[in-house]
Amino acid sequence: MRTGQQIIASGRYQTLNPWLEVEKIREDFPIFKEKIYGKPLVYLDNAATTQKPQSVIDATIHFYSRDNSNIHRGVHLLSQRATEAYEHARVKVQRFLNAAESREIIFVRSVTEAINLVAQTYGRKHVEAGDEVLISAMEHHSNIVPWQMLCEEKGAALRVIPINDDGELLLEEYEKLLNSQTRLVAVVHLSNALGTINPVKEIIEMAHQWKVPVLVDGAQAAAHLEVDVQDLDCDFYAFSGHKLYGPTGVGILYGKADLLDSLPPYQGGGDMIRSVTFEKTIYNVLPYKFEAGTPNVAGGIGLGVAIDYVNEIGLSNIAAYENELLSYATEQLCGIPRLRFIGTAHQKASVLSFVIEGVHAHDVGTILDQEGIAVRTGHHCAQPVMARFQVPATARASVAFYNTRDEIDVLVKAIHKVIEVFK
Ligand code: ALA
Repeated sequence: MRTGQQIIASGRYQTLNPWLEVEKIREDFPIFKEKIYGKPLVYLDNAATTQKPQSVIDATIHFYSRDNSNIHRGVHLLSQRATEAYEHARVKVQRFLNAAESREIIFVRSVTEAINLVAQTYGRKHVEAGDEVLISAMEHHSNIVPWQMLCEEKGAALRVIPINDDGELLLEEYEKLLNSQTRLVAVVHLSNALGTINPVKEIIEMAHQWKVPVLVDGAQAAAHLEVDVQDLDCDFYAFSGHKLYGPTGVGILYGKADLLDSLPPYQGGGDMIRSVTFEKTIYNVLPYKFEAGTPNVAGGIGLGVAIDYVNEIGLSNIAAYENELLSYATEQLCGIPRLRFIGTAHQKASVLSFVIEGVHAHDVGTILDQEGIAVRTGHHCAQPVMARFQVPATARASVAFYNTRDEIDVLVKAIHKVIEVFK
């Protein structure tokens, strides 16, 4: 990971850390030339998906116009070029996460697929009747439902770590929930509904005292926090490309090599085999054992380019800038009458979820849209979080490093308009 100093030396995004040269950065994202109802786009739905820099768009176009071919399958030059580019992207992901080896990086479709993969391999192998899987009360549906399905099938129990009114995990409750029946802990690193950053290193250490492996859902975190899987000592870590300025339809599952090696394959098909006869199939080595079928080759290559882009700015610079912006937005929104934040953890990033008394979140979203502002409204695929805070839905503004204070001011003005309309 490049430091702020190195970036100053590179000169491209000369930084007055924590204030990045955002105007220059925004020029890299063609979507910001779009007008929404004739107004400048204020894109604050980054937790749903991020915008793509030109370099990522170009990489995808380049692949389809110059290198398009299937990977691992052809002796011809195009196939070699495609394979090389795809495998190079895997190495970029390995470095991005500081994984020990590139075979620990499995390309998948999304975080959802990554979690289902672990549930169907690790879970099927190790979870039995009477066992327990531990998740938290702030999980996205994709880190709830696969475990529910597994527990139902196996006769195991799903246990939930509660959260406090700020949306922070209750670690003392977590400690009490860990026991000799716990087979896996699966927790989110950065909550998409609340913005809470969980103390995953501590969570992992505590689980490991019981020899319980931990899966971290990094869907939101990977774009906002530096992630070092060796330092965290997590057993599995998942993130998706499209939330990291890369293409949709590509995600990553990191797993410790020994653990992955010990697991059965997920899906059967081409590329995940060494040899097939009707009597017996010998599976391929890592990471291919878990990558059946033709993957999203262009997506993987695009993700590698997105990682290059993020590295050029530096995740520590991104985190510092976004932190400032989030504080500014929080201060500005704080003063608005009838507005209540959902999620006020001490450690937060990117996400501002809120409700306005007397106004449904969808009405908030619709009026903001008319002003060119994109936010997400609804339950954010985290219905248990909504139930915990006794709200049907929230409006959620989520920032990225290309957002500005001026955009926050536009948001604040538009929210005042909402309040005026629903007086
Ligand atoms: N999980 C994504 C979100 O929070 C789609 O919006």
